[in-house]
Amino acid sequence: MLLPMKLVAFLFLSPLLSVQSLDPPVNDDVLALIAFKAGLVDPLSRLTSWNEEDIVACKWVGVKCDPTTNRVAELILDGLSLSGHIGRSLVRLQSLTLLQLSRNNFSGPISPTLAQIPSLEVLDLSNNTLSGSIPEELFQQCGRLKAISLAKNTLTGPLPQSLSSCLNLQRLNFSLNCLSGQLLPGLWSLTFLRFLALSDNLFEGDVPGGIEALYD
Ligand SMILES: *[C@@H]1O[C@H](CO)[C@@H](O)[C@H](O)[C@H]1NC(C)=O
Ligand SMILES: *[C@@H]1O[C@H](CO)[C@@H](O)[C@H](O)[C@H]1NC(C)=O
Ligand SMILES: *[C@@H]1O[C@H](CO)[C@@H](O)[C@H](O)[C@H]1NC(C)=O
Repeated sequence: MLLPMKLVAFLFLSPLLSVQSLDPPVNDDVLALIAFKAGLVDPLSRLTSWNEEDIVACKWVGVKCDPTTNRVAELILDGLSLSGHIGRSLVRLQSLTLLQLSRNNFSGPISPTLAQIPSLEVLDLSNNTLSGSIPEELFQQCGRLKAISLAKNTLTGPLPQSLSSCLNLQRLNFSLNCLSGQLLPGLWSLTFLRFLALSDNLFEGDVPGGIEALYD
C-alpha cells in the first residue's frame, strides 16, 4: 500500500510544485499587489488577506483571477477607506482587465504608467482625491480601453488630446472635477462612445451635462 500512497501524494503535489517553480508570472502578480499595498494606507485593515507568502493572489479580498491562468484579471477595491498613492506597480498585472478603486481617498497625480497595462478595459478611479492633470500618456496606448471614470476627484487642466484616439471607448465620466479648457472636437468622432459625462467642471463654453446614446 505504501507505494501507491506515495504515487498519489506525488500526483497531488506535482501541480503545486510546477506552479511554484515553472510559472513565475503568477508570483509576479503577488509581488505587484504586495508592492501596491505597501504604498497605501489601510486604516480599517481590509487587506489582511493579502499575504506575500501566497503563491497566487486569487483568494485575496478584491482580487479575481482568470481561472485558466490564475493571473489577476480584476481588482475591485471600492469604498475600503484606502488612502495613499496608486503606485506604478500595478503595471505588472499583465492580465488585468478591470481596475476599480472608487470611493476611497487615493491622492496624488494619476500615474501615466497605468496605460501600460495591456489588457485593461475598464478603469474606475472615481470619487477619490486625485489631483493634477490627466496625463496625455494615459490614452496613448488605449487599445482595449472601453470605459473610464475619473469623476469626483480634484483633477485640473484640459482633457488630453490623445483621448480622441481611443477608438474603443464606450463610456467616459469626468464630471465633478476642476477640468478646464476647450472640449475636444475629436470626442464626437469616437464612434463607439455611448455615454459621456463632463458636468461640474470649468470647461469653456456650453458643456452638455451628460450625453447618452450619442450615436443611437
Ligand atoms: C463618494 O464616496 C463617499 C464615501 O464612500 C460616499 O459617501 C459618497 O456618496 C460618494 N459620492 C458619490 C458621488 O459617489
Ligand atoms: C483624505 O486624505 C486627506 C489627506 O490626503 C485627509 O486630509 C482627509 O481627511 C482624508 N479624508 C477621509 C475621508 O479620510
Ligand atoms: C459620473 O460619476 C459620478 C461620481 O461617481 C456619479 O455620481 C454620476 O452618476 C456618474 N454619471 C453617470 C451619468 O453615470
